[in-house]
Amino acid sequence: MNDEIYGPATWIIDAIRRSLKGEHAQHVKARLAEQDLSPSAVVEPLPLRLPATRYLPECVAASMFMSPDVAAALAEVEEFLHWRQNPNYSDALLGAGYMDNYAYTEIIGPNGFFAGDDFLMGLLLLGPGVHYRDHHHAAPELYWLLTGPSEWRRGNGDFEMHEAGDVIWHEPHVVHATRTGASPLLAVWAWTRDVSEPARLAEVP
Ligand SMILES: [Fe+2]
Repeated sequence: MNDEIYGPATWIIDAIRRSLKGEHAQHVKARLAEQDLSPSAVVEPLPLRLPATRYLPECVAASMFMSPDVAAALAEVEEFLHWRQNPNYSDALLGAGYMDNYAYTEIIGPNGFFAGDDFLMGLLLLGPGVHYRDHHHAAPELYWLLTGPSEWRRGNGDFEMHEAGDVIWHEPHVVHATRTGASPLLAVWAWTRDVSEPARLAEVP
């Protein structure tokens, strides 16, 4: 067991578990309870920062207002995180500057602190003025917004404004999109099953 990692890793997971509320959060917590989060299962991620992580300090500071517990845990765990991007995404597909303003990390998952059993949980960072356009995946997905505001839509619906603290749920294969305004977005996300199929951008009509 790696003592240096186990403490921060379990702190952030427990902080998220304590703070998540609502019907869909219960489903995420039930799946979380099925994961092996024992000391012998912890792994040390290969720390990796990306251009979008320049927004992390600002987002962690903003999340203090919403969940001091999670914000403090984030500050503790930040140095260990392995940030990544969907390899199928590019500026050509998502717009100039997108890849410098987008990154995600796994807390539970192949690049996180615990491998996870058909379950992923992590963080998403989007810079200001970003449009993460329509995409879909097989996994049911929960987002819990740590900063705000940001705009979200499902299917052909209109974009709706959401604030820090909101929980957003996407059923399997539902097309969804996110837009940020003046502020960067930091959100917790979880995929509760069918995680091996990556997110794919919807065809542009
Ligand atoms: Fe998604």
